[in-house]
Amino acid sequence: MARLVHIVGSPRGERSRSEAVANHLIGKLGGMEVDRLDVWDMDLPELDGAMIESRYRLIHGADVEAGFTPVWDDLRAMVDHLLSFDIWLFSTPMWNFGLPYRLKHFVDCIIQPTMAFTNDAAGNLTFHGTGRTAVLIGAGALDIRPGSGLAHLDYQLAHLEHCLRFYFGIDPIHCVRVAPTFGSPQDVETVMRKAEEEVEALALNLQNAAGRRD
Ligand SMILES: Cc1cc2nc3c(=O)[nH]c(=O)nc-3n(C[C@H](O)[C@H](O)[C@H](O)COP(=O)(O)O)c2cc1C
Repeated sequence: MARLVHIVGSPRGERSRSEAVANHLIGKLGGMEVDRLDVWDMDLPELDGAMIESRYRLIHGADVEAGFTPVWDDLRAMVDHLLSFDIWLFSTPMWNFGLPYRLKHFVDCIIQPTMAFTNDAAGNLTFHGTGRTAVLIGAGALDIRPGSGLAHLDYQLAHLEHCLRFYFGIDPIHCVRVAPTFGSPQDVETVMRKAEEEVEALALNLQNAAGRRD
């Protein structure tokens, strides 16, 4: 049975537009094991200077700094847990054109050498996320979708997509934009319906792909 993990980036709970669309997608997927990771409830380590030293050690093929083994073991367990899922579903609002800081923190935690990828001395990467699919659902007040003339301001889904593809080797990555969420209630309702229709079509696609894998 295919396994899906929903990584929740909005702190707004039931009021979250991005989470509502993600839940709509999950509701349309049958026969999948679903888990939920809320980045606002997670205990993420500080990536301060001392901690980051171990990242450089891993990149150069060395062990993490003495005394930092437990926290790096926890990070590895977190990434291994993620890698146990076939589909990674992210839902997130846009904050100042980018990701909310907790989700950015989560992304910075999981993209680690020997966990997301392995590199050789020449910098060639082997990806650990190959074979996974990602779905990114991004809400935003402004219409910065491709073709809107403001697409160059997207440091939200474009950023997340590049991180997952470049460092984990995840492909395909499906992006669904819930925007603009600033407007009259009727206009926002129309935006929500459009996003829901988009994820309904995507649900069929994911279900078919999962069927082919089983
Ligand atoms: C701190 C903060 C910063 C925001 N910055 C932007 C922004 O740069 N661009 C944008 O389109 N919307 C911005 N918004 C609006 C949210 O992206 C929008 O309300 C979205 O629908 C919220 O999604 P959610 O309901 O899933 O949390 C911002 C909202 C907050 C709280």
